[in-house]
Amino acid sequence: MIRRHSMHDSQHRFFFSSRVLSSWLFAALAAVTACVPTSSSLAQSAADTPQWRSALHYTPQRNWMNDPNGLVYYKGLYHLFYQYNPHGNFWGDMSWGHATSRDLIHWDEHAVALRANQTEEIFSGSVVVDARNTSGLGTAKRPPLVALYTSVYKAGSRHEAGVQAQSIAYSTDDGMTWQPYVHNPVLTLSPESKQFRDPKVSWFAPGGYWLMATVVADAQVVKFYRSDNLIDWTFLSDFTLPDVPHRGALWEMPDLFALPLDGDPSRPKWVMIVNVNPWSIAGGSGAMYFVGQFDGTRFVADDVVPASSDPARYQWLDHGADYYAAGTFSNAPSGTAVTIGWMSNWDYASHAPTAPWKGAMALPRELALKTIDGRPQLTSVPPSSYVSMVKQRPATRIDAFDVSSAARDLAPSARGAVQNIDLTIRPGTAHRAGLIVRASANGDVGTRIFYDTSTQTLNLDRSRSGNTWFSGAFSKAHIVNLPLHDGRLDLQVVIDRNSVEVFADHGRTVITDLIFPAPGDDHVRVFAEGGDARFSDVAITDMD
Ligand code: FRU
Repeated sequence: MIRRHSMHDSQHRFFFSSRVLSSWLFAALAAVTACVPTSSSLAQSAADTPQWRSALHYTPQRNWMNDPNGLVYYKGLYHLFYQYNPHGNFWGDMSWGHATSRDLIHWDEHAVALRANQTEEIFSGSVVVDARNTSGLGTAKRPPLVALYTSVYKAGSRHEAGVQAQSIAYSTDDGMTWQPYVHNPVLTLSPESKQFRDPKVSWFAPGGYWLMATVVADAQVVKFYRSDNLIDWTFLSDFTLPDVPHRGALWEMPDLFALPLDGDPSRPKWVMIVNVNPWSIAGGSGAMYFVGQFDGTRFVADDVVPASSDPARYQWLDHGADYYAAGTFSNAPSGTAVTIGWMSNWDYASHAPTAPWKGAMALPRELALKTIDGRPQLTSVPPSSYVSMVKQRPATRIDAFDVSSAARDLAPSARGAVQNIDLTIRPGTAHRAGLIVRASANGDVGTRIFYDTSTQTLNLDRSRSGNTWFSGAFSKAHIVNLPLHDGRLDLQVVIDRNSVEVFADHGRTVITDLIFPAPGDDHVRVFAEGGDARFSDVAITDMD
């Protein structure tokens, strides 16, 4: 396992202040070099980076974005709200940006939904469809959408600066405009806390009430509450670990939902996602999860890992460096669990060299819970809308070929910056076998995705992927243990202008990493080292 060393505990307490500081340093630098266009100009400036503007992944037109918020499906539209700075390309003035999509791939950006003001910023949260108008904020005929978010109070408000509490806002025009509730906040801790945030609300059908999961981030605790009307909340229970693995890490963006085990509705299990920063599997921020039971009051994890300081002992939604703040859509069609994660990492997000925007969402994913190696594990695959888009487009197909201790272009005609590649690799006698994507003509530069037979690991190495020097914290390689079944590895690789997502063995393992390649580096190479490997069932689809 290659990981960056985590920050020291004392540094975490200054998490937010250092985030602000680095944002301001960045803003100051940008102003000095006049690199970042003013908010009034949409024209491309010399420092703009269209070569890294994702084609398949959501990015805001301009400015800073982090966590997905308020994920809800309603009347045929997926709503994606997100942490957004309306005023600059750096973290600050946190508000909720808004985009919608019918297919989870093509997005329309809308006006800012909830804005920071003189007295508060708007941190992460969720949206529910209040179909029975339990809140009374709509009407029976026009039920409201209700957003639950964290108010972060400023000096001059009725709270001490920095206090975090849960507030609500509602929309009676299907999510397009929002009114904050007049008696906010609806939930505060006593005494007030500066780490109480990220409410994720869902309807708990067996009990007939609303359920909120929220965190006290620096105490590494998920707190559950219930409500009949989304306004009055009663404490239910805390979820934490008897031996929290890394005391300095923040627990953020919790999500609790049920999934049938192995597709059998008579065997539902509960999944608790806890986003952890730092101390993730790939260093910095990552999405950890637990599988267990929820009885309407308390979540109990099936397996509690014995005290350990190794993230590899825990379960992760993604093994790359750039998948954080992942949560699920509420009200998703036919009960599917669809997630979106922020495709970045707090270790270096504020230094990402993109303009006039900073921040992208990973490809949405459909989750399932399957028994793998004797225990329930989440699988994540691209959504069916994406899969059918891939199928509808012409592909370069190759049945099978062998590579013996060599490297070469996969298919000389199949160059591209935005591609979907499906293939099977049988590493055979090779020590290492795999692909180099977004590669230069001779393959010296590129992102290497390969299987290592001596360590039985899947690897993504971005040490020569393009601009890696924008931050010393940009980790270079991400490795996951993955024993082969029948000697084969099935891969789906989604390549975009700024990212690589590797779905191995039908979503059993995922690695998501940002890359910043040169636009001309668009070859796909295959290689085998130290022996013979077989590549088969190759389909390369241009997705641009
Ligand atoms: C997670 C997070 C949340 C918080 C938001 C602030 O990335 O730190 O806990 O609500 O970002 O932007």
